[in-house]
Amino acid sequence: MAKAKTAFVCSDCGSDYHKWQGQCSDCGAWNTLSEIRLASSKGAGRSTPGRAQGFAGELAPARVLSEIDVSEVQRIPTGMTEFDRVLGGGLVPGSAILLGGNPGAGKSTLLLQACCGLASQMSALYVTGEESPQQIAMRAQRLSLPLDQLKLMAETNVEAILAALDTHQPKLLVVDSIQVVYSEELSSAPGSVSQVRDCAATLTRAAKQRGIVLLLVGHVTKDGSLAGPKVLEHMIDCSVLLESSDDQRFRTLRGQKNRFGAVNELGIFAMTEQGLREVRNPSAIFLERGEKQSSGSVVMVVWEGTRPLLVEIQALVDDSPLGNPRRLAVGLEQNRLAMLLAILHRHGGLQVGDQDVFANVVGGVRVLETSVDLALLLAIVSSFRDRPLPRDLVVFGEVGLAGEIRPVPSGQERLAEAAKHGFARAIVPRGNAPKTSPTGMQVHAVASLAEALALDL
Ligand code: TYD
Ligand code: MG
Repeated sequence: MAKAKTAFVCSDCGSDYHKWQGQCSDCGAWNTLSEIRLASSKGAGRSTPGRAQGFAGELAPARVLSEIDVSEVQRIPTGMTEFDRVLGGGLVPGSAILLGGNPGAGKSTLLLQACCGLASQMSALYVTGEESPQQIAMRAQRLSLPLDQLKLMAETNVEAILAALDTHQPKLLVVDSIQVVYSEELSSAPGSVSQVRDCAATLTRAAKQRGIVLLLVGHVTKDGSLAGPKVLEHMIDCSVLLESSDDQRFRTLRGQKNRFGAVNELGIFAMTEQGLREVRNPSAIFLERGEKQSSGSVVMVVWEGTRPLLVEIQALVDDSPLGNPRRLAVGLEQNRLAMLLAILHRHGGLQVGDQDVFANVVGGVRVLETSVDLALLLAIVSSFRDRPLPRDLVVFGEVGLAGEIRPVPSGQERLAEAAKHGFARAIVPRGNAPKTSPTGMQVHAVASLAEALALDL
């Protein structure tokens, strides 16, 4: 009998090694390598003996690009516009999509809603490994979804799932979740790196060969990365993440990788009694402000994918009791805050070295764009001086290390959106100054931080 092949696999990133070592040379984690027994290669190449099957589906001989049929890939709309937007227009047959998210984010709800709708136009199979069919049926009933088309199966064995593909011939397969799926050919426990990796590879391969849309649900670890191996993200065509806002009302769906579209799109849903409801015009959902304007708060326009989003930036600057004052950014980049405070000192002449500085984006939104710089600095100055900024003011612009205000993309569209929501004043980079201001709006175009701070509003 041939000796069973083994490998040492890192449980964080999934890299494998011939020999054990203390640190994974790929991801740098310590003590994460464990020995696993590999599946016999007999099983892996079952359909075409002697030749490995690629993830790209049917393997084909080399041809020049022009000979390859490039007729537009048809897309299947899911019936949920926000979901389609993130997917780049709909589901592509023969593609594998990974939906990640924290427990309770609403992954199962989202897929159940999408599948029940889709099942009327294409045969769909929902494989559940976490919830019982009764639970899912009850939920579908409560959400008044069409119950007569979607096939449901409780299964965690990947070989059984493949067999079900032959029996039911679905065009859409959902596996909820990939972490509980296991293969009999591997000795390691379900949920371990090698199981997740091999089962995902098997399912992806099957989906490509049959032209099925495969939707995998994946768990997310505490730090927000996908549980299980990174190799999973290389195999699949599209990876989307469902996140809940801090107050749990809204869910944002964000593309992380997409072979068929842009990744910067954001879909927004509200979690209601009737399941996930799409928020079609989300530009101002995070903007609920009280009547009284307090210091340290200003509204900015973020550009999320192809849409503007109005968010409120807050800052609190206060005398620090500590020798080493605190700088805390929630929803913003911490390092950027430190850098902006240095710019404020050097080019704005304002010293906050002995002050605690807290910055926050209201509504639990995360703003990673540099266009937040100017708004954040003005909020900090407003809080420091305890002078409220006008309620109808909107600000955006990147601040450079020399104290210059740099233009940001889509300046006109941001201004137009703010004007639509009744903002009457704007401070923008000179490079974004519009030829004609939106009606009813007074636009101040500034080239430097000093100029922005000198404005009398
Ligand atoms: P679920 O889809 O089970 O999350 P996941 O599969 O990502 O773990 O969603 C569960 C959460 O959604 C749960 O906390 C309750 C909430 N929820 C509602 O508020 N309304 C609803 O109609 C449904 C179905 C769920
Ligand atoms: Mg679930």
